[in-house]
Amino acid sequence: MPTLRQLATEALSHLPERGQTTIMVDENARAILRSWMQAARTGSPPKPVQAAPPETPLTAAAAPASSAAPVLQTVEEKLAWLKERALTWRAARALGTLRDTMVFATGSPHARLMLVGEAPGYEEELQQEPFVGPAGQKLTQILRAMGLSRSEVYISNICKFRPSLGPQQHTANRAPSDEEIAACLPIIQAEIRAIRPAIILCLGGTAARGLLGNASSVASQRGRWFDCQGIPTRVTYHPSYLLRNDTITARRAVWEDMLAIMEKLAMNITAKQRRYFT
Ligand code: URA
Repeated sequence: MPTLRQLATEALSHLPERGQTTIMVDENARAILRSWMQAARTGSPPKPVQAAPPETPLTAAAAPASSAAPVLQTVEEKLAWLKERALTWRAARALGTLRDTMVFATGSPHARLMLVGEAPGYEEELQQEPFVGPAGQKLTQILRAMGLSRSEVYISNICKFRPSLGPQQHTANRAPSDEEIAACLPIIQAEIRAIRPAIILCLGGTAARGLLGNASSVASQRGRWFDCQGIPTRVTYHPSYLLRNDTITARRAVWEDMLAIMEKLAMNITAKQRRYFT
């Protein structure tokens, strides 16, 4: 009878014929493959691999009655639990394409406005806080123009780890792939369930792709309300887009989106704020 190893080798060998050159493997499968490689190198039989226990579903953070999770009462407790889980998030680790440092979120757990960006970059990874580099400074300016501080809103990312560019990576960043977004998606979805903000703002197309499943351009998604877990959701340009395209047109577009959000939140809008960029 063929062994599991022979069956797997046979199945994998046919994938390239079907145009498939990569596969997703979880941590258990990686451990098994590692033991097979070790065995092939040493000529000894593969060592048995202990299966890792299944992860507690993140829905537990919003449903404390679940027997699989601790009883979490407050939003703060739920976020602390999620942060702890995100640190060793297996689906992200298993890809092997994301860097190790986890960057969670910043701001108020009771915020009415939740902003979701793409992924941490060089500065964010260093400081372990989202949006603290040049794009973060632009975002802080935009919030200030709205009369908000960073501590009054909740700022997070769709991907909790900086996408890797290999061992020589220094300050360069890249956007997360669909696979990387999918791996981290349960975390941001659990944050949304825990916080239940009044409004979600997707900063850029990557966040919209993950949260709304909408891969069309930001330009075509702007100016409308979407629904994410029953929460009105808006899409605008990423602050780094404004850094690259510092034009009155781009700035006005983002400001129109911010005015729509301020109106929806019933914030006081001054005549001066209404006149910006007109
Ligand atoms: N860009 C993002 O999308 N997120 C960050 O945290 C920083 C830059």
